[in-house]
Amino acid sequence: MHKLLSRISKLLSMSRRSLSPSSSPRPSKRAKMDHLTKEDFKNGVFLAPMVRSGALPTRLFALKHGATLVWGPEIVDKAILHSTREVDPVTGVVSYNGVSRAIFTTHPIEKPYLIYQMGSADPDLAVQAAKIVMQDISGIDLNCGCPKPFSTHAGMGAALLTNPDLLCAILVALREAMPSHITVTAKIRLLPSQEDTLKLVERIVNTGVSALTVHCRTRNMREKDRAVIERLREIVEFVEGMGKDIAVVENGDCKDWEDAKRVRAVTGAHSVMIARGAESNPSCFSPEPLKDVETTLIPAYLNLSKYLQNHWSLTKFCVGQFKGTRMQVTKADSLAMRQTLSQAKDYSDMEHLMTSLTGEQEFQQIIEAIEKKPPREHRMLLTEISLPHDEQDHEEKATTITPQGTQNPEPPGSGAPFLPNDTGKPHTKIPGHDATTPTPSGVLSLTSL
Ligand SMILES: Cc1cc2nc3c(=O)[nH]c(=O)nc-3n(C[C@H](O)[C@H](O)[C@H](O)COP(=O)(O)O)c2cc1C
Repeated sequence: MHKLLSRISKLLSMSRRSLSPSSSPRPSKRAKMDHLTKEDFKNGVFLAPMVRSGALPTRLFALKHGATLVWGPEIVDKAILHSTREVDPVTGVVSYNGVSRAIFTTHPIEKPYLIYQMGSADPDLAVQAAKIVMQDISGIDLNCGCPKPFSTHAGMGAALLTNPDLLCAILVALREAMPSHITVTAKIRLLPSQEDTLKLVERIVNTGVSALTVHCRTRNMREKDRAVIERLREIVEFVEGMGKDIAVVENGDCKDWEDAKRVRAVTGAHSVMIARGAESNPSCFSPEPLKDVETTLIPAYLNLSKYLQNHWSLTKFCVGQFKGTRMQVTKADSLAMRQTLSQAKDYSDMEHLMTSLTGEQEFQQIIEAIEKKPPREHRMLLTEISLPHDEQDHEEKATTITPQGTQNPEPPGSGAPFLPNDTGKPHTKIPGHDATTPTPSGVLSLTSL
């Protein structure tokens, strides 16, 4: 084991980039604050909203490696209402702190690309919550797809799919209350019938949204069920026919940048959104994603997360999800690293695997990468893409209904993990404390790192 770890350390030193150490901490330059338009939702490859996995360091790595826009994890409206906004004077990290934990953290560098996702079942609360965070974000997205009981029992998430009046009332209220430079969008799932889906889509588009994401699974489908992306083309054409210039964003089973071309060719979607592919490797937005994540992504991620004071438990969770093609790193090396990670109690237990690059230098590289190649310019402008034969056949045969046998009696979940105290049970409400939300717990004790 010791031998394997020292081999990883050796590989790490081989992969270290030469970078002159910064003499003094350079305050991060604020990104150019231009506003999103409907066009910004086209030709993009986006980071999907992911509770826990969509943490700030992950979003920053996604942007560094080419994600066009990034969605934050779903935050329930009530959760943010009683938070206190604090800015770290050294890193610039903006933290919305609840009584017992940080509800949401962001950094000004991501603001031009950041869509804040909200869970809500109440137009007034949605507007109040949006007003709290609007200075730090570019758009608000309404989660209309989460099938987990913590969302649906309160009428949020996928419950909105069968309550279109409420769904649209929230979108209308947000659109009316937000200044025009804050976009309002929605993320839905397919309804079992295509006809009902089109009716819902029509109503949503008429609320004035700037884009619509469609997760190509129904509420009752599991993540392992193939996303029925073939149903999306008709939806895209329908939305285009409405003449409102709204982008339809495909979500479901897109792995990476290369795969996004296939998905766009099959669906005609204006953009593609990736969740689990990015959870495994946030550099999947690049035509050349990082390989050997044990010596490339993971050390850099640990350094950056430590510098940004990302809570260790959140970092540990995210790092545990990373995997990618191995070139130099052996399976044994990878296993040894993961074993060390599983036993690590804080950043210091992983220090031997961190690069000589400091977290601050890592952060400067991210800032430079975003400033040098703004993600909005990293567009997927499609030339003609021809589908492989078997996919063309598949497309022709595709039905417009959810495949038989995939409609589970229990809403199985969007993949959003249950929190330790959320395993199917309703959240315990702490009176006078933070409202329930599917965001990670225990993210407040930033100074304990
Ligand atoms: C860890 C995890 C957390 C998620 N959290 C959210 C969330 O907060 N809001 C949301 O709308 N969807 C959430 N989802 C669903 C994804 O955004 C996406 O719709 C789904 O995973 C399908 O995309 P994929 O096939 O690229 O993974 C989550 C998924 C995962 C894996």
